[in-house]
Amino acid sequence: MANYKDAAHLASLTKPSEPVFCIRPAAARKAADWFLGAFPGDTFYAVKANPSRWLLQTLFEAGIKKFEVASIAEIRLIRSMFADAEIAFMHPVKAAEAINEAYGQHGVRIFSLDSDAELDKIIRETGAASDLTLCLRHAVPNDDAKISLGRKFGVDGDEAVALLQRMRQAARQLGIAFHVGSQTMSPAAYVRAIDIVEQTIIKAGVIVDVLDVGGGFPAAYPGMTPPPLADYIDAIERRFNAMLVAENCALWCEPGRALSAESSSLIVRVEARKGESLYINDGVYGALFDAGHLNWPFPTRRLGAAAAALDVFELFGPTCDDLDHMPGPFFLPADIAVGDYIEIGVLGAYGVAMRTGFNGFAAYGEAVVEDAPMLTVFETLPMTKAIRGEEANG
Ligand SMILES: Cc1ncc(COP(=O)(O)O)c(C=O)c1O
Repeated sequence: MANYKDAAHLASLTKPSEPVFCIRPAAARKAADWFLGAFPGDTFYAVKANPSRWLLQTLFEAGIKKFEVASIAEIRLIRSMFADAEIAFMHPVKAAEAINEAYGQHGVRIFSLDSDAELDKIIRETGAASDLTLCLRHAVPNDDAKISLGRKFGVDGDEAVALLQRMRQAARQLGIAFHVGSQTMSPAAYVRAIDIVEQTIIKAGVIVDVLDVGGGFPAAYPGMTPPPLADYIDAIERRFNAMLVAENCALWCEPGRALSAESSSLIVRVEARKGESLYINDGVYGALFDAGHLNWPFPTRRLGAAAAALDVFELFGPTCDDLDHMPGPFFLPADIAVGDYIEIGVLGAYGVAMRTGFNGFAAYGEAVVEDAPMLTVFETLPMTKAIRGEEANG
């Protein structure tokens, strides 16, 4: 893959007519090193955030040997790349065939569930295996998350107590897992969740072998600067160590966003300008799903032209659909024009993974760049206020 100093270098040399992913293996390595060094337990990478082969390979080489997956396709991908990786199949509602293949052909032993029916299915499809790690997906509040994952999965109360007791009979290792929601802005969310699951464990009177605090660790976006990541780890570690039931219990986490967000940005080109609306060559049916559907505030900068006062813009993607609209606000030079290139940063999580190819806009370039990501949670970088979204016109 071609290598460039930064996105501006790439754009000036290649003048791309299609969007180009700028990939930063060094940023992925830094994120992996950070989690492996700081988290007092096992880190599983949540593959759904970004299943790019280069990223999986980079994380694996950096020491992330465990992967959290949602589908049989993700399992096949991980197994095809890493014969010895540990795979946790943590979607609480799985196809019977997927469980069967995961257990029988890919060596998957870790499964999550939130119902009796799913437990019956896992027991049946694994031939009542005696080597399973079964994790109950516990419902917990998602109030501190920018993206709630609290509505669809998870059990609590008496239902969780009864299911945990049943699972204890079927599992070699019994786990309890939760997800506080993606881009969780307060470490207290994890503490509250552990408070809740501890009560369930006490009421069930079972020994738990694994506590899995899930994903939800934040990245930095304009106007969305989270507390230091170390505060999250501290809060989790203290509360975990104070658990009455923690003796001999392993601690796991499943970051997707935090391990991948900083690893990619995207170069797009302005194809038309109408006032403060810019028509660019990628959009919500491409890698910018979150910018449109969730109004996610990605950092932007114009590449290669002289600095100018900033103005506030909205973006439209290349398809013919009205929904292909990213309201922003995006802060870009007031004199931005057709043919200019824009870098959209911190797009490594839930960007590549969301592309549809709708209207035939499916082609992307890819190249390695050597500069630092536009925003980072892994060290303090000198960031301009504009990139942080704190100031327009200046
Ligand atoms: C079970 C599970 N684990 C981990 C993750 C990763 O979450 P995040 O990207 O917020 O870290 C998700 C995201 O949907 C998930 O569903």
